[in-house]
Amino acid sequence: MILRSRLIWYLQNSAKLFVVSVRLLIHSIFHPKLFFRLGFSLFSTLNEFYQYTHGKLYPFKETHTYKKLKNEFSFAKCNYYYSDKNVARSLEVLILSTLVQYFKPKTIFEIGTYTGFTTLHFAQNSKEDTVIYTLDLPPNYGQEKLTHDKLEKYSYDDHLVVELSTRGIDNRVFHKNPLRKKIIEIYGDSMRHDFNPYKGKMDFIFIDGCHAYDYIKSDTENAFKMLSENGVIVWHDYDYIIHRDVFKYLNSLVKDYRIYSIPNTRFAIYGKNI
Ligand SMILES: C[S@@+](CC[C@H](N)C(=O)[O-])C[C@H]1O[C@@H](n2cnc3c(N)ncnc32)[C@H](O)[C@@H]1O
Repeated sequence: MILRSRLIWYLQNSAKLFVVSVRLLIHSIFHPKLFFRLGFSLFSTLNEFYQYTHGKLYPFKETHTYKKLKNEFSFAKCNYYYSDKNVARSLEVLILSTLVQYFKPKTIFEIGTYTGFTTLHFAQNSKEDTVIYTLDLPPNYGQEKLTHDKLEKYSYDDHLVVELSTRGIDNRVFHKNPLRKKIIEIYGDSMRHDFNPYKGKMDFIFIDGCHAYDYIKSDTENAFKMLSENGVIVWHDYDYIIHRDVFKYLNSLVKDYRIYSIPNTRFAIYGKNI
């Protein structure tokens, strides 16, 4: 009896799904942008599925941080409506903000300012005296100035954001915000930049610059040098399809470091005591 009613349920819903899909296809002919958005979310879901099946990072749920965050109800400040698909997604920014609020870093270092969206969230969710350094390519940047000769290895969105970032350099979202006083903008190519002045001093490091293998490796090595005793490193774009090099590199690091993958995001996180 139960089996029969289940079968009927599946048949009815399959028919509904078919009708919805056909309607959707017709609708998308007239609204291609919406169709693109749907495609993008399906693509992201596929990506996350691959993270679960082929990723080598540890599940974030194993950390004390996760357990505390889950039970302590920490509420972070986040702008949900800013929708630039080249930056961290709303849920990701919310999680990033929650992490900053939780770890209470005195110093933050971000590689990859872009519009300054994540930078401003760091400012909003940290203590008043926290200092935030954010590094991006200089205004006079020309692609020929990048150190490595494998520019074609840049993923398509790297090329796009580099150009958009340089264009919007005088218009970062924190520029007109009073919290700007907490933020120090630094310009340079992260592969050539001298990170020595920050050695052992950074409590929270966010890596979201160039996603090519040589860069993600160099940025990560510099992050480990800058990391303070109880500091944490968060990487963005641990995803297989678009940022394959990040996925590959972080998976290879697991033999030396216990790095965790944060579910429903493209974040990876490391910290000695998390
Ligand atoms: C994905 S965006 C950062 C997004 C930002 N963190 C957010 O979510 O609001 C990547 C940024 O890294 C910068 N970038 C790319 N290559 C870089 C390099 N070699 N050195 C420094 N910054 C770089 C780009 O100009 C771009 O602004």
